[in-house]
Amino acid sequence: MLKIMLASDIHNCHSAWYGMSNEERMADLVRCLGEAKRERSYDLTLCLGDVSLDFWAWAEGGSVFWDPPVSRTAEFMEKIAPAFPAPFYITPGNHEQYAPEDWERITGQPREQIVCRDEAVFVLLDAFSGNLGPAENSDGMYRPVNVGLIRDALRDAGDRPVFLAAHWFDLGVGAESEEFKALLREETRIRALFCGHDHYSFVRSTGEDAGNKPILHTGHFSYSGDKDPCRFYRGWRELTVRDDGTWESLYRVPAQVIRYPGWDVHMDAHTQDAI
Ligand SMILES: [Fe+2]
Repeated sequence: MLKIMLASDIHNCHSAWYGMSNEERMADLVRCLGEAKRERSYDLTLCLGDVSLDFWAWAEGGSVFWDPPVSRTAEFMEKIAPAFPAPFYITPGNHEQYAPEDWERITGQPREQIVCRDEAVFVLLDAFSGNLGPAENSDGMYRPVNVGLIRDALRDAGDRPVFLAAHWFDLGVGAESEEFKALLREETRIRALFCGHDHYSFVRSTGEDAGNKPILHTGHFSYSGDKDPCRFYRGWRELTVRDDGTWESLYRVPAQVIRYPGWDVHMDAHTQDAI
């Protein structure tokens, strides 16, 4: 059996949310991860991007173009990543538009990769691979996912289930390739997709034209994707793959406090949207 932690949108950065400074939030994350590792035996972590806001284009701007420049991604890799269940695999989000060689120098990993285990194969795809190494603050540019990499994984997967993971899968009109959608329709070994980006924690479908596969959203550890922060709490997704290839997943919310000016909202630890 294989138990995987999937985390996304941690946003180690200059911003505070819900009355909590970045330093407080990162300390809370490290504490939660320590508890999670003691209570459950995770075999590996897949981090689906936006660990920073390094190229943030709005308001006060991202830290890469500060003087002197600051890489919050490098800071994350040095100080926070070791707290996650090892081995730790990461793919970039739309706020980590580092050129491939810079990303590799900072994280020690390529921008996309295949992770093979006896029970399953995972394809970590670089969804925002357009306009890398920008000369000024900007948003990441979505590019259709690398179908060649998925085919490489399928070639070596044998009977094992294959899971696709990226910061985002844009299945809206015209964004993704027909080749990708056809592969999702035809390839039964691709069991599910995992993504972050919208800071939601729920499960939806890829739709009829893309094989009706489940897309499991991995939530966030920063701010809710909804105006009401109590709609989507900080947490991470858990995936269990059994030796016979069957699998299940849920979103795990640790106990936390959302601070408003004048009052707090307390949330007990719980799980949600199990599939
Ligand atoms: Fe994000």
